[in-house]
This record gives sequence, C-alpha cells and structure tokens, in this order.
Amino acid sequence: MTPYTKTLIGQITSVKTGAFTATLIEDNEGRLPRISTGKDNNLTGQPGSHVAILQNGIKLLALVTSITEFGDESPLNPLSKQAPGKKKFVTLVPLGEINEHGAFEHGIKHYPVTGAEVHTVNDKDVEAIFVKFRKQGFSVGTLSSNSSLDVCFDPDALFGRHFSILGQSGAGKSWCVSNLLQRAVKVMPKAHIIMLDLHGEYSWRNKEGKQEYAFGEGIARYIDARDLEIPYWLMTFTELVDLLVDRSDDSASSQIAFLRNSVHELRTKANKDLGIGHISIDSPVYFSLTELYGHFEQANKATASFGKEKGPLAGLFDQFLMRLESRMNDVRYNFLLQPKRRISSDTLPELLRDFVGLGEPKCQVTIIDMSTVPFDVRPIVTAQVGRIAFEFNYWNPAYKEFPLLLVCEEAHAYIPRAGKTQYEGARQSMERISREGRKYGVGLGVISQRPNELSETVLAQCSTFICLRLTNPDDQAYVRDLVPEAEQDFVNVLSSLGQGEGMAMGLAVPLPTRLQFYKPDPPPNSASVDFFAQWSDGPDDLDVDDIVNRWRRQDRLNRQ
Ligand SMILES: Nc1ncnc2c1ncn2[C@@H]1O[C@H](COP(=O)(O)OP(=O)(O)OP(=O)(O)O)[C@@H](O)[C@H]1O
Ligand SMILES: [Mg+2]
Repeated sequence: MTPYTKTLIGQITSVKTGAFTATLIEDNEGRLPRISTGKDNNLTGQPGSHVAILQNGIKLLALVTSITEFGDESPLNPLSKQAPGKKKFVTLVPLGEINEHGAFEHGIKHYPVTGAEVHTVNDKDVEAIFVKFRKQGFSVGTLSSNSSLDVCFDPDALFGRHFSILGQSGAGKSWCVSNLLQRAVKVMPKAHIIMLDLHGEYSWRNKEGKQEYAFGEGIARYIDARDLEIPYWLMTFTELVDLLVDRSDDSASSQIAFLRNSVHELRTKANKDLGIGHISIDSPVYFSLTELYGHFEQANKATASFGKEKGPLAGLFDQFLMRLESRMNDVRYNFLLQPKRRISSDTLPELLRDFVGLGEPKCQVTIIDMSTVPFDVRPIVTAQVGRIAFEFNYWNPAYKEFPLLLVCEEAHAYIPRAGKTQYEGARQSMERISREGRKYGVGLGVISQRPNELSETVLAQCSTFICLRLTNPDDQAYVRDLVPEAEQDFVNVLSSLGQGEGMAMGLAVPLPTRLQFYKPDPPPNSASVDFFAQWSDGPDDLDVDDIVNRWRRQDRLNRQ
C-alpha cells in the first residue's frame, strides 16, 4: 500500500451508507491546503476530486461532491481572517477500496467510523482505478482533477449497452460525440457506425462546394437521407397504416381491412418469382403504389346489381384516396413514395450495403444527413433508419462479428416520450433497439439537450450516461432519477461543468468520473454564428432570390 505522510487533510465526522462527511483541516488563516497532482495544483475539497480514507489498515477511495461551511456566526477576526467557530465540511461519496495489492475494487466492505483520517490521494491510487479499461486503449479525455491522467472508456460497455450524451445547448455534445467516434475508429478500425445527423454537422459542403467530414479521410461516407431512398415498400403494414390512413376517419377500420388485403395481394403478385415462399403483409418486398391506388379506386366506385346499386365499399375510400393522392403528388415525399432506383425487391441489398457502410466506398461511419428532409417527413425516415439498423443484424447470421452502432443526434426531436403520435413509429423502432439491440449487437447512442422530452424507455436502457453542463433544475432532477442511486449525488456537479467537460457515469467507466474530453480533430461543423464579427463587418447585401429558390426547392445551404 502506498504510504501516506503529510497528506492528511481532514477527519470523518459522519458515516451513512451512501455518503460520508468530513471536516477539513485549515491553516491559521482559514485557508485550505493546496495539493499537487502531476501537472495540477489544486485546493483540497474541490467537488470532483478524489480523497482516500484511512483507518485500521483499510483504505477507501471517495469522491468529493460538495463543500460547505457550518458553525457559529461569530464576527471575523480581523487578524486571522477566519471565523473561529466555523468549519469547512465536505460530502464524500465512497467509491471502493484499494486492496493490499494496490488494486481498486468496487464497493465498500469495510465502513470507516468517525475520526477516520482523510488524505489526499496520490496519482498511483487514482491510476489504480483507471487502469481497468486501459488495455483497450480507448482514451477519451483527461481527469478534471488531474490532467496528467487520461481516462479510458470500456468500448464494449459504451457501444454495446447503449449510451446517452446529455447537456444543454452549447455544452459540447456534438464535439464530445465526434471525439468519441474519431477515437473509436482509430482504436477499432473495423467499427460500423451509422450516424443520424439532423443539422449537417458531421459532413457538410464548404464554400468551394467540397464535401468535408468531421472524421479523417476515407473514414466516413456522407449520404443524403433523400438519396438513400428508403422506399415505402420497406414499411411494415402498421407503418403503412400510419402513413396512409387517418384513424379518426369514420371508415378507418374498413380502409385498414382493405389495405391489409390489397397490400398482401400486391406484395405476393409482384414477387412470385422471388422464390422466398410465403410473403406476409410485412415482408420487405416491392409492391406498386399505383396499383394500390387502383385497387382502392375500383372498390370505391364499384357498383352492384348491374350498376343499379352502390357497391358495399362505395364512397368509403374517398378520404383514403385523397390522402394517398396528395402524398403521391407531394414532391417532399418523392424519395419515399416515388423512388427512382428502388423500384424492385432486388434493390434492397444495395440499400442495406450503403446503410451499414459496405457500399462503395466502404467506410466505418455512415453519416445520414437528415437536414435535407422536410420536418414533417423526418419521423417516417428516422423510424425506417432505426428499423433497418435493427433488422439488419437481427437477420444477420454473423451478427456477433458485425456489431453496429446507431448514433442519434438531437434525439428528443424524433424519439420523444409516449404521446406524440406523429413520432410513434420512430419511438417504437428506437425503443426496440434499446430493449433488444444488445442481444443482436446493435448499440444505440442518443444525444440530447432535452432529457425530459426523450423517451423514458430509451434512456432507462442506457448503461452509460455522459452528462455535460446542465443547469436547468428540472433536467437535473430528471437525470438524477435516471442514474443509479449511489451515483445521484454526482448530478449536483453538472451545473458547474465547463465546456467540453463531462461527468461520465455507468458501465463504461470504472466509477463516476469528471473528465475533460479531448477536442475532436477535425471538429464538427457546429460552431456558433459569430454575431459580433458579422454585425461589425458582415456582407452589405444578399442573394435573396437564391434563398427563396432554396426554400422552394427545400434545398439547404450545404447542398450546392
Ligand atoms: N472539448 C472541448 N474543448 C473545447 N471547446 C469545446 C469542447 N467541446 C465543445 N467546445 C466548444 O463548445 C462549442 C459548442 O459545442 P457543441 O456544438 O458540441 O455543443 P452542443 O452541446 O452540441 O450544442 P447543441 O445542443 O446546440 O447542438 C463548440 O463550438 C466549441 O467551441
Ligand atoms: Mg450539437
């Protein structure tokens, strides 16, 4: 065991199972001692720093979560600058024990009693903790309390057991995820990552029109979600109903029943020669939407008794036909309802190849740019993306050798809590990954600035939480409820985190850790607009015709 001499900083004054308190030793002037760890020179008692508790040969490691001052309100002594009756207290959360071999073990078997000594920890002790995941080499940042010690995450736990990155706008989530993924592909060159990019931050066109990436050359592939052409015929029957039937319509049940028969008939008819045997209403095989329209139109007009009477379904499908027709004529739905390339069942393998990064050129990260997809169509696309990611490995016999990660930026926008019916499909497909993905090697990473608007199921299934600065008390309270009970005190630290600084909790870290993430290189395209510079010296005029044109064509800035 590393000896502790001249490192005493305090004494334990109360012990509860999850938290201890200790008074700190002060000098004559009421100042706390400074401790040097590696490059840093810190004051003792800083929240986020580690301490050791020694008693009877037992050595516990604990994390400081808060510091307070209690005591008499006696007037300041002008000479000593110290309020004599006051004492500084720290709250400590016990993390584990350092055993006689100097190795860190989770959990507390021996509790201290009051009077136990509190010491600063030396680098060796802290290193004993973080050595745990070092062999994989997935280093993502440095300890906030000691910048000479790097922090390694466990990639298996992080990517295989789902993670979330939470933090308010501008806290550094996009930078953090870029850093994590950049380092992941470096350490694990056969990574397979699919990224849902809502704002074109991870791949964009520069002013010269050249495609740029938040990853090195040849690592990422940019795919415009519209060019991916996830066609309507990939949808399950329930998803088709959501898209085409208004459930509040009086004849909705007739429409659904007729749709069921028609879709089954058309799927079977178009794929007679596919040689797959039974085709169900959910089979991912082509059928013609125009023919579907024809079926409904015919039934809607059909007459009985040689034209003297109306048919049984006559008029019931007016609403349905209007809805389908307007969707088919809406150019924004073209990539879904009028695909140019995906017009037969045999185009599906190519779609899946592009999706998982096995297309031409092969890549580790596929960035699906959703910024070009109109708002109201996004739920449908994200639902399909989630579903394809899951289905791919669910049906992949080699799923164990081909784990996938789906990263969802701004996840609250399309994986909301139950209630928003428009997003029901996306929510369900992501929740399925969060519940069952682990078994089939499909990991989920959700990134959000609004944790309490995000699906509870998805968050509850995350095993690692990376929390960046979060000052809103409601959001903090929400995060507190999410993390394991023993780690709830750490949430107090969240409002004081700096840019790019985070609190990592859960399976991928040896213990709750406050760390400064490395800067990604290159960074994503998420920099704030520079108001001062542009308002001081910005352009005098703009091509407003071009703006109008882009708006009408639904063509955003990063597409030339
Ligand atoms: N690790 C870091 N080191 C230094 N600066 C950082 C770091 N991470 C983020 N920043 C700074 O913070 C800014 C905002 O970061 P980022 O775009 O990642 O925020 P965000 O949390 O994704 O915000 P939003 O929720 O609005 O998308 C960056 O432009 C960068 O200047
Ligand atoms: Mg962001």
